Amino acid sequence: MAAIASAPASFLQAMTSVKRAFNFSAGPGVLPEEVVQQCQQDLWSIDGTGIGIMEHSHRGKTFDKVLADAESACRKIANVPSNYKILFVTGGATTQNEMVPKNLLGADQAAAFLTTGYWAEKTFEECKAHFPKSYEAWDGRATKHTFCPSDSELTWGEKPGYVHYCSNNTIYGTQFRHADGSFRYPSVPWNDVPVVCDMSSDIYSRPLDISKFGLIYAGAQKNVGVAGTTLIIIREDLLDLHKKLNKKLFTMETYATHAKGESRHNTPPAFPIYVSGLVFKWILSQGGLAAMHQRNMEKAAIIYKAIDAGFYKGHARSDSRSAMNILFKCPTPELDDKFIAEALKNGMDQLKGHRSTGGVRASVYNAMPKAGCEAIAQFMTDFAKRNG
Ligand SMILES: Cc1ncc(COP(=O)(O)O)c(C=O)c1O
Repeated sequence: MAAIASAPASFLQAMTSVKRAFNFSAGPGVLPEEVVQQCQQDLWSIDGTGIGIMEHSHRGKTFDKVLADAESACRKIANVPSNYKILFVTGGATTQNEMVPKNLLGADQAAAFLTTGYWAEKTFEECKAHFPKSYEAWDGRATKHTFCPSDSELTWGEKPGYVHYCSNNTIYGTQFRHADGSFRYPSVPWNDVPVVCDMSSDIYSRPLDISKFGLIYAGAQKNVGVAGTTLIIIREDLLDLHKKLNKKLFTMETYATHAKGESRHNTPPAFPIYVSGLVFKWILSQGGLAAMHQRNMEKAAIIYKAIDAGFYKGHARSDSRSAMNILFKCPTPELDDKFIAEALKNGMDQLKGHRSTGGVRASVYNAMPKAGCEAIAQFMTDFAKRNG
């Protein structure tokens, strides 16, 4: 990323003089520092145009390049096959709860869901309300979403229009994974049923085989950018499936519209797309997904080791531990509060668990440096000694 030195020094100094905390937020999450610094430059003037990225026309040459670069880097990272489209849409991952069934399900069809967490619950419930034959091949509510099921635990009903699951459960800290943390693809008994995956909280954190999926979606604000755009990777034959299903949808509701308009049928979220482009280039510059995965496994292991030392209790079963969101509790809720308050004083922020789980949650997305994981693990050890 070549920096443009046209912004006044005072402007840049003011921005970088504040010490940054280790940000363990579950999302919007930490960004790579190089990306934030590049944004600072390009907000002022991008590519020597004298116009900041947020002020450029979405139909101009400058944004043409931003979009093309973002798409090509995104494609390169995961070798996205040529029969898949990469789209940047709005409405967050939550809007996909509506778009996916609208586009992929016929009026009387069911979709099948693996309900492994809070967001997966919402996705199922929304679909069920509109497509009542939809069902859960797995329901993890009774076991408090402590793990992701094995293939033998799945109970399939009628052949669905698609199967939906969430690869990483942000709120419960579980992940579909093999022992080495690599991607585990639940086995589906029908070869011709598209698999739809919500990868909002672990997209591009480890190698993956895109061809296993019909559609992948991810809110950008955790691993691949900032809030405002949702990344969609969709197999081309699904783009206008709604037509084959004899459904009449509004223009903006169809994937075909966004594909035809190359993510700018209307004014797109230009700045978030630009940031995603920078993050994709950063991932490539770090060595790509294999390097990301190795680093993420090392980072997560540092924190899980501190949990396993005894004082803390982790939420996830060990075979489903997420490398992205790490949940644990102190022996009492009062100690959780004390932990979070003292960690903040020590430069570690956004550690409060979600209201549905309580406790502490450390989100350690791609951009969290190893030093952040070492800092919290050291703090955990010291805190346990003082309060054990
Ligand atoms: C796995 C997962 N799915 C969906 C969502 C909802 O995303 P959005 O706020 O972009 O709609 C989140 C947000 O945290 C998430 O973690």
